[in-house]
Amino acid sequence: MSNVATYQLLDGKQCSEAVRADIASQAAVVTAQRGRAPHLAAVLVGNDGASRTYVESKVRACQSVGFRSSLIELPTSTTEAELLDLISSLNRDPELDGFIVQLPLPKHISEEKVTLAIDPRKDVDGFHPESLGRMVLGLPGFLPATPAGIVELLRHYGISTAGKHCVVIGRSNIVGTPMSLLMSRNTEPGNCTVTLAHSRTKDLPAITRQADILIVAIGKPEFVTADMVKDGAVVVDVGIHRITDTTKKSGFRLVGDVHFDDVAAKCSWISPVPGGVGPMTITSLLLNTLKAAERP
Ligand code: GUN
Repeated sequence: MSNVATYQLLDGKQCSEAVRADIASQAAVVTAQRGRAPHLAAVLVGNDGASRTYVESKVRACQSVGFRSSLIELPTSTTEAELLDLISSLNRDPELDGFIVQLPLPKHISEEKVTLAIDPRKDVDGFHPESLGRMVLGLPGFLPATPAGIVELLRHYGISTAGKHCVVIGRSNIVGTPMSLLMSRNTEPGNCTVTLAHSRTKDLPAITRQADILIVAIGKPEFVTADMVKDGAVVVDVGIHRITDTTKKSGFRLVGDVHFDDVAAKCSWISPVPGGVGPMTITSLLLNTLKAAERP
C-alpha cells in the first residue's frame, strides 16, 4: 500500500489573501476619511540580496491593498548618525503612518540605537521596547509581524491551542521570544504551556518530541527532521534559506528550518516554505500599518 500523507497545509498565501481583502476594504474607508491612503516606508541599508527581496515584497504588498509605500535605499557606507537623522525626519513626517528599517544592518550601525530611535507610534515592526512591553502586558499596540502572523495563521485554520504544549526553537528578539509570549497568553490562540528552546538546550529532540505545536525559528536549513517530531504535531516553519540546486533554472531552491519532505507525513498541519509564514509576516505588517493610519 502506498503511503498516503494525511497532513494539511497551513497555507500562508491563502490565509494572507483572505486577510488582505479585509485590509483593502478598511484601507479604502481610511483613505476616504482622511483624503490620503495609509502610507508605509521601508528603509533598506546596503545591498543584502535577501533583505532586498523582502523589502520589495513588502512594498508590492502595500500596492495590493491600496496603501502608499516608499522605499528608501541607502548605501552600505551610510553612517549611524545619517540613519538616525533619517529616522528622526520619518518620525516627524505627517504624511507617513509607519516605517520599518530592514534588519540586519551593516555592522557599524547599532540595531539597538536604531530600534530605540523609531517613534513607537510609527513602529509597525513592533520592535520598539514600548511595543514589546505593551505586548507583554496585553495592552493594545503593534505586535511583531512574524509572531503575529503565525498566531493569525493558527486562528485562520482553527488550530486548537489551549492546554497544548508549544515548543518554540529560537529566542531571537523578533521571533522566538515574542512568539513564546503570545502562545502563553490567556487568549485564543494562546493558553499553551510553552517551552522556549535554544542553542544551550540539552537533548533538543527529546523536548521537540513533546510538542503538540512546534514553532521553528532557529535559522538553520532543514534542521528539524522526522525523529524530532511527535505524530500528529502542528509544525510551523519560520526559516527561509536559499540552497544550491543545479536541477533548477535559478540554481537554487528555497527551504525552511524544517526538512519538509521528511517531517510532513508525521504532522497534522505543517506550514510550507515558501508560502507559509513569509506571506503572513507581510500581512501583519500591513495590519499594523492600517492600525497606525486609523489612529486619531
Ligand atoms: N529582518 C528579518 N525580518 C524582519 C522584519 O520583520 N522586519 C525588519 N525590519 N527586518 C527584518
